[in-house]
Amino acid sequence: MAGEKMLMGLDIGSSRTRAVIGSVNKEGQLMVDSICEHPSEGVRSGSIVNIEQTLKTIQTVINEAELQAGAEISEVIVGIGGGHIIGIPSTGVVGISSPEQEIKRGDIFRSLEVARAFELPQDREILHTLVQDFQIDGQSGIKDPIDMLGHRLESRVLIVTASSAISQNQRKCIQRSGLNVARVVLQSLADAEVVLSTEEKEMGTILVNIGSGTTDMIAYRNGAPIFTGGVNLGGDDVTNDIAYILNKTRATAEQIKRESGHSYVPSVSNEEMIIIPQVGGMPAIKMPKRELSRIIEPRMAEIFSLLLDAFSKEHEGSGFGGGIVLVGGGALLSGVTELASELFRMPARLGFPEAIGGLDRSYINPHYTTVLGLLKSEARRLRENQPTGKVGRKARSQGPTSKLKGFFRTLF
Ligand SMILES: Nc1ncnc2c1ncn2[C@@H]1O[C@H](COP(=O)(O)OP(=O)(O)OP(=O)(O)O)[C@@H](O)[C@H]1O
Ligand SMILES: [Mg+2]
Repeated sequence: MAGEKMLMGLDIGSSRTRAVIGSVNKEGQLMVDSICEHPSEGVRSGSIVNIEQTLKTIQTVINEAELQAGAEISEVIVGIGGGHIIGIPSTGVVGISSPEQEIKRGDIFRSLEVARAFELPQDREILHTLVQDFQIDGQSGIKDPIDMLGHRLESRVLIVTASSAISQNQRKCIQRSGLNVARVVLQSLADAEVVLSTEEKEMGTILVNIGSGTTDMIAYRNGAPIFTGGVNLGGDDVTNDIAYILNKTRATAEQIKRESGHSYVPSVSNEEMIIIPQVGGMPAIKMPKRELSRIIEPRMAEIFSLLLDAFSKEHEGSGFGGGIVLVGGGALLSGVTELASELFRMPARLGFPEAIGGLDRSYINPHYTTVLGLLKSEARRLRENQPTGKVGRKARSQGPTSKLKGFFRTLF
């Protein structure tokens, strides 16, 4: 439709590749036009290991999404995550030399450039520079320093870095499918976009996406991301453990996990029995549910502990009033919130993506947070970067401050 911009979000997951097409009207409102998914091939632990196979998957998903939406898309916003993601805290200090001592955009850019000016190994690249806050002449916690007076401006940022090889292979694969990569977005940021409220980010909240081959984490405090990281372990490792220990096929182990699995042993009664299907026409056998839980819990605890260890090296565990929120298919395993709550010592809940116009309710599910977040973050970016003349009434009424905040968020 005239005045509308079509967008596509693409989440190349280890188990499923998901695409969503949406349109943003000139008022800045987002509508979902189509969403679809296909089993991934050639992707392991969030990284492409076979370009040809992944290309085929991407083409299938994109064609179906385009067909459903009745539109052709030329650019995509793609997510990236996994164990290769490292968030590096950094600061950039500059002097304010103008005679009036007023801080301008240029000063902020300079301070962010200084924060980014450290030696990065050749095999790594910067994905995002996420502003935490600014400090002016020793006064900290300033979110918007424009037009304030001072002599010394310090920016505190979280620099999100990724493996260049993994990122380049992903770009190459998408480009070969005939699409341009408009933006590469950290998957955890996309998740946060549709799962966490502004209040939760202010209160301090940890968001964990348990996928099939990767688990990604982002922590917010005082409204800004302070930590991000990931491990190359996920729900499929639990399935593999069950398959190995019970000597079952992966398909049977997956069925057992979904139907009877529990990741927190103390919540499972000693008496409860579960049915384990057998192959080759053999009669099904019974097994105590607690025994299955004893296979699952150590793997889930390992995943959470690895993330917690990386986080604890840099930050204290206090100040997270919003608790821990779990998304991704792996979060659907029973008992995951109980285990996370015990290990992180904070309340835990499941996260669901917020409703978007045109989106069927069946997609309000922890599996779809990343792909919907990619679409929504791009829609927000477009809204914030619209020239003033084209901004809708609602956005205009939010005044100049909201535009400036957008300017910081999308700076790099
Ligand atoms: N009902 C359920 N109970 C337990 N586990 C589930 C359930 N549904 C899905 N899973 C698990 O969720 C995982 C898939 O999650 P998801 O679709 O978020 O992964 P992905 O995005 O493809 O992978 P990744 O993010 O690691 O690249 C699988 O390991 C699957 O076994
Ligand atoms: Mg995923």
